[in-house]
Amino acid sequence: MSKLIVNGGKRLCGSLRVRGAKNSVLPILASSYLTQGESVLRNCPDLTDVRVACRILRMLGCRVRRAEDAIAVVPDGAAGTFVPAAHMCEMRSSIIFLGAMLARTGQACLSMPGGCDLGPRPIDLHLMALRRLGAVIREEQGCLRCTAPDGLRGALICFPSVSVGATENALIAAVTARGCTRIRNAACEPEIVDLAAYLQKCGAHIYGAGTSELYVEGTARLHGAEHTILPDRIETATYLTAAAVTGGAVTLCRTDDRLLRPVLYCLQRAGCGIRCEEGRISLEAPQRLQAMGSIFTAPHPGFPTDAQAVLMAAAAGAAGETRFTETVFPRRFRHVAPLCAMGARITVQHSEAVVQGVPQLHGASVRATDLRGGAALVIAGLAAQGTTEISDVCYIDRGYEHIETALAQLGAEITRKEAASAGMC
Ligand code: UD1
Repeated sequence: MSKLIVNGGKRLCGSLRVRGAKNSVLPILASSYLTQGESVLRNCPDLTDVRVACRILRMLGCRVRRAEDAIAVVPDGAAGTFVPAAHMCEMRSSIIFLGAMLARTGQACLSMPGGCDLGPRPIDLHLMALRRLGAVIREEQGCLRCTAPDGLRGALICFPSVSVGATENALIAAVTARGCTRIRNAACEPEIVDLAAYLQKCGAHIYGAGTSELYVEGTARLHGAEHTILPDRIETATYLTAAAVTGGAVTLCRTDDRLLRPVLYCLQRAGCGIRCEEGRISLEAPQRLQAMGSIFTAPHPGFPTDAQAVLMAAAAGAAGETRFTETVFPRRFRHVAPLCAMGARITVQHSEAVVQGVPQLHGASVRATDLRGGAALVIAGLAAQGTTEISDVCYIDRGYEHIETALAQLGAEITRKEAASAGMC
C-alpha cells in the first residue's frame, strides 16, 4: 500500500486549480443511468470512487468513456439490475444506484454499501423514501432485493432528519416516477443543487433545489445532457487550510467562495486574510494561527462535517482552545488518535472534541483512518517539525486527485512511496 512522506515546515505559496466535487459527480453518474442518449460530464475528478462508479455503470450495461476530465456515459440498451458486493463495499455512494436502477428497470439487487467508517451509517431513510414511491424492498442476509411491480409513482416523502444521500436517492427515483413527488426536510447541499441542475438539463421537472422542500413532476423519458460538475468545496477547504497551517499565501482557482462560507469564516477567525473574486479564493496566513472558538458541524448551510477533521488539524497547532461538536456523525473522530501521536492535545467526550493548541506538532508514522481524517494528517504533517509517514493513503485517494502533486505545486515537500504489494483499505 502507498505511503505519503511529508517533510513539514515548508511555507505553501502559489496557485492551484480546484477539481470537480466528488460528492456531486458520484450521484450525477448514478443518475445518468436514468436517461437515453449520451451525457457528457466535464470537470470530473480522477478519483478511485469515480472509477468505481464508472465500473458499476459499465456492469449495468452502459458505455462509459473518459477523456481527460470529461466522462461520457451512454446508457442506451442498458438494463442491469445487480451490483456485486465487491463494488458495493468499495464506496458509500454505490447506494445511490438503487434509486436509478429501480426507476429504469423496476428491479434492483445489491448488498449494503461500504465507505468511510464515520460511525453508524444506516440506510433506513433511503429505503423509506423508495418504499413511499412504491418500491417493495426485502432485506435478506445483507442483500437488498427491490422491485417496483407497478413502476414508481409520485408521493409525499417527509424525512425525519436531513440526509444528503437519501435526498439524492429519492430525487433520482422521483424524476421518472408517475405523478408528482414532494420531498420535505430535503438536504440543501450544493451537490444536490448540482444533481438537480443536471437532471433538469436531461428534461426533469424539479423545483426547490437548494431549499428544504423539493417538488418533482415525473417525466416518462429523460435524454442525455452536457454538464460541468461544480467545484469541490471540501478540496477547496483542505488546500486553504494546508496553506494556513504553514503561514502560507495561496490562490485557489475554479472554485466558489459561496460554497464554503462557514469554513472561510473559521479561517478568518484563525487570523487568515481571505479575498474572494469570481471563481478564486486567496488566503494569506499569519505566522501562527489563532484558536477558532466553537465549531458545530451541521447540514448545509452549516459548517460541513467533511471539513471538521481538516480544521481540527489546523486547531491542533493554533494558539488557544478550539471546540468541535459533531452533530452529523457524532463519532467522527478517528483522526484524533493519530493527531495526538503527532503531539496534538485533543480530548473527546461524546460528540465533542476539545483541542488545546500546541506550539509545535512533530512528525510521526501514522495511518489514515478515513478520507477526510487522512487529509487532516497530511495537513498536520505540513505543519509539523520533521517527517511524517502516512499509510493507508488509498482512503485519501478516494477524494483527492494526486494530493501530493497538488501540494508539491504549492511548495510542499511531499512524496508518495509505492509499496510492493497493493492492498485494499
Ligand atoms: C454525504 C456525503 C459525505 C458527507 C455527508 C454529510 C456523499 C457521497 N457523501 O454522506 O461526504 O460527510 O453527506 O454531509 O455525498 N442517516 C440515517 N439514515 C439514513 C441516512 C443517513 O440515519 O438512511 C444519518 C447518518 O447516520 C448521519 C446523517 O443521517 O448521522 C447524515 O448522513 P447523510 O447526509 O445521509 O450522509 P451521506 O449521504 O452518507
